[in-house]
Amino acid sequence: MNHNKKYQWHKVAENVDEIKFSDNDMAEIKVANKTFCIALHNNILTACTQKCPHAGGILSQGFLDAVGNIVCPLHRYKFSLQSGRNTSGEGYYLKTLPIEIREEGVFIGVEENNPLNWLK
Ligand code: FES
Repeated sequence: MNHNKKYQWHKVAENVDEIKFSDNDMAEIKVANKTFCIALHNNILTACTQKCPHAGGILSQGFLDAVGNIVCPLHRYKFSLQSGRNTSGEGYYLKTLPIEIREEGVFIGVEENNPLNWLK
């Protein structure tokens, strides 16, 4: 992952404790007027687009399975939050975003050559 040129980093919280996770260990977070989903599984933070690539289910309203896949609330397709791979096999791809915990806060990376309007 190229952290120098490829991503614009947006601060989303001062620290992990400040992120308001729901009971399903996911949170919605807004960056540049777009909403993302952040998940916390086994103390690992991951981030992805808010809408499912299948038919727009709101992923933060789904759940995480035992190995940390995100499961869409609409049709239960599963996606790896590490790679975006559709682990239940339907052939879709979930856009994931890098997320980093730094001394100055928690940051999400948005690809510079991929403007925010791909996140509908
Ligand atoms: S909308 Fe997410 S699985 Fe169908």
